Amino acid sequence: MGSESGTTRFIIFILFSSLLSSIVGGSGSYDPKALDALFRYYANQTLSYHHRAGTLRRASLPSNFSGMEVSVNRLRSGSLWGRGVDSKYVKIPPSVRTLPYVKRLAIVYGNLGNWSSKYFQVPGYSLVSPVIGFEVYNYTDVTTLKDVNLTLIVTGEPISIRFPYLATKEKNVTRLKCVGFRDDRSVEFKNMTERDVCVTEKAGRFCVVIPTPTPTTTPTTTMPEKKGRVWKRWVIAFAIGAVGLAVLVSVGVVMVKWWRERKIKHMEKESDSSVALDTLWVRGDNKMPCASMIRTQPALEHDYVP
Ligand SMILES: *[C@@H]1O[C@H](CO)[C@@H](O)[C@H](O)[C@H]1NC(C)=O
Ligand SMILES: *[C@@H]1O[C@H](CO)[C@@H](O)[C@H](O)[C@H]1NC(C)=O
Ligand SMILES: *[C@@H]1O[C@H](CO)[C@@H](O)[C@H](O)[C@H]1NC(C)=O
Ligand SMILES: *[C@@H]1O[C@H](CO)[C@@H](O)[C@H](O)[C@H]1NC(C)=O
Ligand SMILES: *[C@@H]1O[C@H](CO)[C@@H](O)[C@H](O)[C@H]1NC(C)=O
Ligand SMILES: *[C@@H]1O[C@H](CO)[C@@H](O)[C@H](O)[C@H]1NC(C)=O
Ligand SMILES: *[C@@H]1O[C@H](CO)[C@@H](O)[C@H](O)[C@H]1NC(C)=O
Repeated sequence: MGSESGTTRFIIFILFSSLLSSIVGGSGSYDPKALDALFRYYANQTLSYHHRAGTLRRASLPSNFSGMEVSVNRLRSGSLWGRGVDSKYVKIPPSVRTLPYVKRLAIVYGNLGNWSSKYFQVPGYSLVSPVIGFEVYNYTDVTTLKDVNLTLIVTGEPISIRFPYLATKEKNVTRLKCVGFRDDRSVEFKNMTERDVCVTEKAGRFCVVIPTPTPTTTPTTTMPEKKGRVWKRWVIAFAIGAVGLAVLVSVGVVMVKWWRERKIKHMEKESDSSVALDTLWVRGDNKMPCASMIRTQPALEHDYVP
């Protein structure tokens, strides 16, 4: 039993890791850092056409970004401190300032929409909201968005992110978790207070996740498992076994057929070359050389040794 379940687990492990590598393998080009730079570039272009401060502008993106949404707003630090700033999804309350101080700043908001799970995965969890983020830049010279690593200092209410939708029917808010993605691609979990709101004191990207109910990706651990899960594993193992057996059997059949045909061809050739042997074809297209028994019996015994 022990070695059998070990084999099963090994098979499942191989199956899962190949599945995983095929999924994760494609994500190499989905670099959130590169996305930050692109969003900044398009936000900067948008601000150069629309000079008015304090209004949220939607940036126009190339068609291959279809599904994402980028907006930008520029304002004075004093305005941020005194009034705060609202966008579609992100609410920055008053009493927030930047460190170091800048006279003017620009806030770039991004909604990754249906691209979210391409750029971000959280092992053991499923994303149930789009990834929404914001970044703050120095815009003091009113010509270019400068990335100077501004930090937000929140002295009053926290910043809140309201998600446009959640792709889950889960009503239990304690099962939902808010995830913040940091620059170094690490993740930070937070409890949610409202079903579709994350609170934060930092800029970055955020989304809502829920634990994935599928088997864990580390099948080598020996934890007590639920019956349903064990059942599933057995079914999968049997399915793999059955497919493997079918492949083996069909390969075997093909081999045997090929071998037989070869042998028959060989026999035909031999009977063709032997002049003395008088052959006749039996059973229609099934070409079996047969010697006529009466006339050439000695020749048959001589030449034809199977
Ligand atoms: C769209 O194309 C540009 C230039 O080819 C590329 O830099 C960018 O990453 C693409 N966008 C996405 C979302 O892949
Ligand atoms: C997202 O949706 C848009 C259409 O709304 C589509 O063009 C785009 O390919 C989708 N992106 C992904 C990653 O599925
Ligand atoms: C912000 O940009 C202005 C104008 O270019 C510059 O003088 C200032 O030093 C910048 N601030 C920081 C913190 O880099
Ligand atoms: C921002 O736009 C201005 C004016 O269009 C341009 O001179 C500047 O190089 C741009 N900066 C970035 C970082 O793209
Ligand atoms: C940005 O600031 C953080 C600390 O606030 C620092 O660890 C990091 O190296 C800085 N990055 C850059 C590019 O200056
Ligand atoms: C909500 O989920 C938590 C943790 O998963 C659990 O402890 C709690 O009993 C659940 N509450 C309800 C009302 O189902
Ligand atoms: C989330 O809430 C649970 C109890 O409901 C608590 O044990 C846990 O420490 C909280 N996590 C965070 C990050 O606040």
